Amino acid sequence: MDKNILRRGRLGDSINSKVIEYTTSLTFDGEIFESDILCSIAHTTMLIERNIISKEDGSKIIKELINIYKNGMETLDLDPSLDDIHMVIENELIKKIGEDVAGRMHTGRSRNDQVATDIRMALRDKVLLILKGLINLSKNILSIAEDHVETLFVGYTHLQHAQPTTYGHHLLSYVSALERDILRLLDAYKRINISPLGCGAMATTGFDIDRIRTMELLGFDKLIENSMDGVSTRDFIVEVMSILSIMGINLSKICEELIIFSTYEFRVLELSNTYTSTSSIMPQKKNPDVAEIARAKLSTLNGNLITVLTILKALPNTYNRDLQEITPHLWDSVYTSLDTIEMIEGMLLTLKVNKDRMKELSEKNYSTATELADTLVRECNIPFRRAHGIVGEVVRESIEKNKNMIDVIKDILKKYNLTLEKEAIRRALDPMENIKMRKIIGGPAPEEVIRAIESYNNRIKDYEDRVSIEIEKIKNIKNKLLNYN
Ligand code: ARG
Repeated sequence: MDKNILRRGRLGDSINSKVIEYTTSLTFDGEIFESDILCSIAHTTMLIERNIISKEDGSKIIKELINIYKNGMETLDLDPSLDDIHMVIENELIKKIGEDVAGRMHTGRSRNDQVATDIRMALRDKVLLILKGLINLSKNILSIAEDHVETLFVGYTHLQHAQPTTYGHHLLSYVSALERDILRLLDAYKRINISPLGCGAMATTGFDIDRIRTMELLGFDKLIENSMDGVSTRDFIVEVMSILSIMGINLSKICEELIIFSTYEFRVLELSNTYTSTSSIMPQKKNPDVAEIARAKLSTLNGNLITVLTILKALPNTYNRDLQEITPHLWDSVYTSLDTIEMIEGMLLTLKVNKDRMKELSEKNYSTATELADTLVRECNIPFRRAHGIVGEVVRESIEKNKNMIDVIKDILKKYNLTLEKEAIRRALDPMENIKMRKIIGGPAPEEVIRAIESYNNRIKDYEDRVSIEIEKIKNIKNKLLNYN
């Protein structure tokens, strides 16, 4: 029988090529090709073990599935009227080993549980890659931070000079955020790696299949038991895309800072030539295009998330074809994330840090005023609010009279009947002294930043081990399934 194996029974010859093109998922099913083969091998292995199909037939099916995998998706007849990759593979099997044998593979399953299983398998691979990327990025930022534990810099609030810090401390703020992204993905992984296989179309099957067996063969940690939820839910996708959106916020902050800090006005960072472009008219230009593109691409993660949420909102149980339209947005977010992490890592690793300019900024614009107020509290035993007012007055005078704080403070203190030793004032106004005093947990003191770097490194090593174990586990199950005999 040559006719379309999917449509021939119920729908006959009624084909309109525009409709077919409109509804096929073959254009993006390449992402689940490998998972689909593995899923079918596991399902067939289980069917043999449960005596639902004969060992002879099952072995032929599995061997041919392996051939199809080795030849690659490009060699298949990608006829869009077959709907999708599941039917394309079954069609190929039938062509190779005949319908009497190949037609038995789909016993006790549906494309609904099949596709849900495939997406979970393909996504877990990708999430592990993103995790690897975030872990490497964090490790690299930590090693750059190590070189800058004493590199004075100023911290900003409202993008106005706030207090002195170091560039090492500043870099740790990136790792602190990325660690949460790593933890979120590791946690989401538990809800990705659960098997819907055996849920069938929505009500399981009357065949005596073994869901636990296919779960184990495919390297899943658990079952998603309820068969209606199993084929219906895509919340694991929403979860991953939400995490990627949050990660995008964290990464876009890094991009934004690379952009503003390399302006002439800041002049504290210089991107390497590789990560910049120039102008077609202005010969002097060195533009931070890669960071700008990254900043923009990261916004598409939010758009993709909203698209998926909107597709899912108010869908009834269980499988609806709408679900098919989700995955292209998922894969787009996945690849954008992977590529952007790589670009950011490259920019940071090749960055030039202008330490002199950073130091200059740390001393400017009253960044040590808080410490001066704190010194008044300590030395003169006055309430902080009073000290805050007095130092505010010192700053105002210094600006109005165009004098240094040290030259106006004496008179103001006298007015309030207060005295401060010259040495105490000098120390309060020295950015490095400010830094050294801020040695409590999370602060910028070099000794604290060194401690923090070590503690991040230890924790990140632990995440790295967890990811490696998972990658190894998946590699082993793939090897086993693809070496069936
Ligand atoms: N291509 C489909 C998808 O991605 C596969 C499942 C088709 N199931 C169905 N009942 N039409 O969702």
